[in-house]
Amino acid sequence: MLAIACDHGGYELKKEILKHLDKRGIAYRDFGCDSTEAVDYPIYARKVTDAITGGECERGILICGTGIGISIAANKVKGIRAALCTDCFTAEATRQHNDANILALGGRVVGPGLALKIVDTFLDTPFSNAERHKHRIELIEQ
Ligand code: RB5
Repeated sequence: MLAIACDHGGYELKKEILKHLDKRGIAYRDFGCDSTEAVDYPIYARKVTDAITGGECERGILICGTGIGISIAANKVKGIRAALCTDCFTAEATRQHNDANILALGGRVVGPGLALKIVDTFLDTPFSNAERHKHRIELIEQ
């Protein structure tokens, strides 16, 4: 199960991503927000991190205007590795090397076409399981 949430700056892009997930038949839980009315992104980051740390969801997508605030907020939570991606190379590498469990996107930064490719790359790329990467992730968690 995938957890997804946004603030007002990410709302329009989230709508595109939800349509795409529906087309792909990917199960998700949408934690809001539900309009372009201004909200506080840390609240929405926490809804998704709670779903992941609580075991309800394996991975998540968070979207704000830049992707920065919402990824900073998510990365305060132990066990969360949120990666802000603006290209497919980074999305692939962060899954392979960092086992990132949240993809952060900037709704005012990337257009929907690129964003959907980044989402697909993030969802379809497995962790490498290489010992060096596992070790580095353990060091982050200490
Ligand atoms: C909201 O205006 C904006 O600050 C927010 O979406 C995000 O870009 C913060 O990092």
